Amino acid sequence: MTTADLVIRNGMVVTPDAAFAASVAVRDGKILAVGAQDAMPPARETLDARGLHILPGAIDVHVHFRDPGYPHKEDWASGTAAAAFGGVTTVFDMPNTIPPTATAESLAEKHAIASSKAHVDYGLYGLLGEETIAHVGALIEGGVIGFKLYMGNTFGKIPSPSTGAMLEAFEVVAPTGKRISLHAETNSIMERRETQLRNAGRRDPLAHLACRPAVVAVEAVSRAAILAEWTGARIHILHISSADELRPLREAKARGVDITGETGPHYLMLSADDYARFGGIIRVNPPVREAFNQEPLWAALADGTIDMVATDHAPHTPEEKTRNDIFTVDCGFPGVETQMPLMLTAMNAGRMSICDYVRWSAANPARVFGLYPTKGAIQPGADADLAIVDLARSWIIDDAKLQSRSRVSPWHGRAVQGLPLHTLVRGRFVMRDRVLVEDTRGFGRSVHAIQRMPEPQPRNTDKTSAEIVRAGPSARPREHVA
Ligand code: DOR
Ligand code: ZN
Repeated sequence: MTTADLVIRNGMVVTPDAAFAASVAVRDGKILAVGAQDAMPPARETLDARGLHILPGAIDVHVHFRDPGYPHKEDWASGTAAAAFGGVTTVFDMPNTIPPTATAESLAEKHAIASSKAHVDYGLYGLLGEETIAHVGALIEGGVIGFKLYMGNTFGKIPSPSTGAMLEAFEVVAPTGKRISLHAETNSIMERRETQLRNAGRRDPLAHLACRPAVVAVEAVSRAAILAEWTGARIHILHISSADELRPLREAKARGVDITGETGPHYLMLSADDYARFGGIIRVNPPVREAFNQEPLWAALADGTIDMVATDHAPHTPEEKTRNDIFTVDCGFPGVETQMPLMLTAMNAGRMSICDYVRWSAANPARVFGLYPTKGAIQPGADADLAIVDLARSWIIDDAKLQSRSRVSPWHGRAVQGLPLHTLVRGRFVMRDRVLVEDTRGFGRSVHAIQRMPEPQPRNTDKTSAEIVRAGPSARPREHVA
């Protein structure tokens, strides 16, 4: 019988469909077998997981690791250490770094940095902006997991493309099959409101929410869905924050648009009532909203309207988060390390099942981005990306103990139940007994090479900007062609 590198004995294995007592054998970075302990092959090493749950490592499709560009906020080593401590085995990094990940050169530079420092696997987003549409081919060639398009301004001040440029960008990406992840907040609405509120002298934390009412997101999601439907581009709505966005999302799904969505713990667990307590610390884009949004967001996760949880891990320093003028406070806070404990706390409280949790945190992100079942699954042949967690452990989140360089979050002091004890990436412990395995720095690798998106489904290809220019004056609208 083949000898395994590792057998994790007597845990509770969790999949989206079941939680069952089993052992897991690992060899050459892959899962070799899942089953009864007496059916396991001999192993070089064993780990006793009695009383613990074995989850597929979380896939956080939305983090900002700031590298290159903002080393005082985070870098690939600190960000992926935070992931490892949070039971997260794959992250997708956003392109609002310096320089933005918008060219083949900046992408190659980020790949070089990430591959030398990462403790966990990763994908890199390429920027889809007004000026970068021509780079789509080169960015795919250079290895991106998908594209990020900012419909609204946020940290890094990446200009948001006009609707015309967005349509063209969708036309160009649709035939590639890649997914476009959208910061779906309409810039022109926010900009006008912010100017008016500033002129009226507002600088208080709630002014941030006042600038960005839910209609900002509703309008953006609706418009993006129309463009996706027209072009056949695949889109993903990042950080869904409001109940009102769910209607355009549901309707687009019902029409067959390839649209997916994520929300995060801060929209599920924080509310407008928390601005008084936290001030700028909870300033994030989109904003934390009125408490009435929370139940519909949970319900949308439960019924599949929202596909997954992701964190928008957005580290900044305490100084950058505690300025008096809310409009000068940097947006976002760290989350990659606390998502799993926060969500497991909700699970322990009866909000959802542990199977639901792994569907939202691992299986669905892997499916939506073409990584399933190499990632996001505990079954023979899958990568051995595992979070081994103690669901009974009660503890208090302490920002000072986070791996992230950003030691300021609204989660500080929060009581949680559920703690990842060990994290494995492709069969290797990257975090063991709550200690980082230092020599896994640089072990993480880009997952773009294993991505398999379904066949592209471009639509209206005879009406794209490129096609109408190419066809010239002799072309006739299709229905007139004999
Ligand atoms: O609050 C946010 N911070 N929202 C974003 O979209 C970007 C992020 C950042 O990079 O800091
Ligand atoms: Zn973000």
